[in-house]
Amino acid sequence: MVSTANLKPSSGILSAILFGFHRLELPGDLAPACSGSPLVPSSAPRRRSGLRVSRAALRPFHLAGTTLLNLITVDDTTSADRALRLIRQGSTLRWEGDFHNARQLLAALGRRTRHVQHLNALLITTNDYAIRLRRAPDVAAACREAYGPPNGERLIPLRELLGVIGAHQHRKRGIYLAALNARIHPHYGVFAPTRSEYVDLVAAEPLPPTEVAFDLGTGTGVLAAVLLRRGITKVVATDNNPRAVACARENLRGRAEVIEADLFPPGRADLVVCNPPWVPGRVNTMLDTAVYDEDSRMLRGFLRGVGDHLTPDGEAWLVMGIRPQEEMLAEFRAAGLRVLGRTGAVPTHRRARSDETTYLWRLRPSDANPFVEKA
Ligand SMILES: C[S@@+](CC[C@H](N)C(=O)[O-])C[C@H]1O[C@@H](n2cnc3c(N)ncnc32)[C@H](O)[C@@H]1O
Repeated sequence: MVSTANLKPSSGILSAILFGFHRLELPGDLAPACSGSPLVPSSAPRRRSGLRVSRAALRPFHLAGTTLLNLITVDDTTSADRALRLIRQGSTLRWEGDFHNARQLLAALGRRTRHVQHLNALLITTNDYAIRLRRAPDVAAACREAYGPPNGERLIPLRELLGVIGAHQHRKRGIYLAALNARIHPHYGVFAPTRSEYVDLVAAEPLPPTEVAFDLGTGTGVLAAVLLRRGITKVVATDNNPRAVACARENLRGRAEVIEADLFPPGRADLVVCNPPWVPGRVNTMLDTAVYDEDSRMLRGFLRGVGDHLTPDGEAWLVMGIRPQEEMLAEFRAAGLRVLGRTGAVPTHRRARSDETTYLWRLRPSDANPFVEKA
């Protein structure tokens, strides 16, 4: 059955349809960003569905005018093989059957393809965040947290919707961190401290005498919370993602100043902590900025700017995994920083590989060569 219903994907939804971004709630998932190629391959037969995407909805993603093509209604009678065939031919599938069966179909698709675009082609219709399908859960609160107030009919990739539901449960339940003896409550789209080893590193590293500390790219506010717990009385945290700023403010409950800023707050600190995104991959959506550091912009901005934001005996602490040591040393040299020390922690989570050590680098502007040219 072919449907040409005039439904609008929302902006966040569209980004998932096109890019499949919901990686943030998956612990340890550092897979490279899915390519930004459109869902519909150019070779596919094209039939317009009427799903013209508004310019406003696309503003963050620079994809104004994109049209979803070949929207086909599928249900409990559709086999996974047929669904995948349709998707590979360039169709998007709107589910009209039992909600649990849709999950089964998605799982079956997941066993047949690893293409995120393909998996995101199975869509659920919501109407003011209500789903009119058999055995559908109440997703209103989860969707409001992720997308804001309801706004009529929306198509949401089931894969993303499950992520949104998971994020809502995560936020409600929180993540217990031994270093804080407390729970941190991540919001949708905010980097969640599901790996605790880097938090433990910041909790255990010997502190320089510190009155003021900065936490750059604070996310949930977890590292700012650790610094407060260690007795630092003034902590200023920044993030350039408004979702993270709201989340950190909620978690820190006024005990630290949280500012929406690109990297540094005004002034100087005795300790500047930064856990930038580790993967130097491409950023396609605002949500990607928690995981991908395009062209190492945050890393280099931190390294090259930190000297101007430290007190004379201050220390910069960089949390970093994945990247090779030689690469990091070259970055430090180029920024005119020297290494005071490095502490490593091996991850404890189930899917960890042995080469996934996380490091805390203690850095200071190089007084051996204070005039070192900054590349
Ligand atoms: C890997 S997450 C770390 C979050 C948190 N500090 C933690 O350790 O769990 C990186 C954070 O940096 C933020 N970020 C990325 N670029 C930034 C920039 N230029 N200025 C401020 N924050 C930035 C992201 O929004 C994200 O919250």
